[in-house]
Amino acid sequence: MKLSEIDYSNNFNDLDIDLKNYINTDNHVVFLDSNLSSILNLDENLNIFEIDINESTKGLESIQKLWAIMFDQSLDRNSKVIGIGGGVLSDLVGFATSTFKRGAKLCLIPSTLLGMVDAAHGGKNGFNNDYGKNQIGTFFIPEKILICSEFLDSLSENELNNGIIESIKAGLLGDRTILDLIYVDNFMKNIDEIIKKSVKVKNSILQNDIEESNERMFLNLGHTIGHLIEKDSDFSVSHGQAVAIGILKGLEIAETKYHLDNNVKHQFEDFLNKKSLKTDYKFSNDINYLKEIISNDKKVSNDVIKFVLIQDIEKPILIDLHINDLLEVLING
Ligand SMILES: NC(=O)c1ccc[n+]([C@@H]2O[C@H](COP(=O)([O-])OP(=O)(O)OC[C@H]3O[C@@H](n4cnc5c(N)ncnc54)[C@H](O)[C@@H]3O)[C@@H](O)[C@H]2O)c1
Repeated sequence: MKLSEIDYSNNFNDLDIDLKNYINTDNHVVFLDSNLSSILNLDENLNIFEIDINESTKGLESIQKLWAIMFDQSLDRNSKVIGIGGGVLSDLVGFATSTFKRGAKLCLIPSTLLGMVDAAHGGKNGFNNDYGKNQIGTFFIPEKILICSEFLDSLSENELNNGIIESIKAGLLGDRTILDLIYVDNFMKNIDEIIKKSVKVKNSILQNDIEESNERMFLNLGHTIGHLIEKDSDFSVSHGQAVAIGILKGLEIAETKYHLDNNVKHQFEDFLNKKSLKTDYKFSNDINYLKEIISNDKKVSNDVIKFVLIQDIEKPILIDLHINDLLEVLING
């Protein structure tokens, strides 16, 4: 499987040049998260459409707006569609592009840390419907991804945390040096290196398994429990915070099952404390509701979930865990 070509730009001026080089003279549209219009000054000759984005607009209505613009601009399969924004925008633009005349060319320019290290890579896209989040989607690898960390200057602390937790996940799964770059006084001074290394870990996992039949599931580290916390809290707990607690619980399980060195957990816990992130969560719904939520997870069959743990740093493993055993750990500790 051919993965995306990735270029890194040092600042917005370089990004503008890289983008124009990518588009060349081809027919194109640029979909820009409208929250970025005051941050980014793109060449006015580009064919730019601002899109209002938030999780509640991540639905079919937005997809239809994107398709309509693509038809109105007479795009075809050789045209280039560029999406500039966070994970919501890249998921919407990715899906709309993959289904427009069975697929035009896609370039993603992630503007959040989560987008840079995770959401823009790997070709998964999706949108929400009445049946849940990201229930409709395709696998569609972007031809190009342009990464520019100048976007991070305007990102909130909460959004930075959402992204850095995914980089910690990458460090635990495949590169311990990422953890050394993050567990310092101010990880932002290492951010360019953190992004590059996190992308490398994700891509090396994707290389072997784009369609999530096996190895790609490693990327769910912390996410099974994280999603449960998000749902239980009616999404009042942020994604990064929820996944952080999910990773922590996973490290605790790994200590019991595989004698994982408890320093791995302590270092992570220290980081969460320093960032004023919570290290525990009390579920408000009853066990039957939680069981129902987990059972709807795509990774569950016959009440057994494919659960990701690490035996050691850089040694992920997929185990079969009965959902009763998982809930026991979550509720009774
Ligand atoms: N497809 C995948 O593989 C994948 C992976 C992870 C997450 N996701 C999806 O990504 C979404 C979350 O993405 P996200 O965390 O990037 O959030 P987001 O796209 O909702 O962006 C968060 C907020 O930050 C704003 N913003 C974006 N860039 C900014 C910048 N540089 N400066 C200031 N504000 C900025 C946005 O307008 C928005 O209000 C979820 O819908 C999730 O399902 C997809």
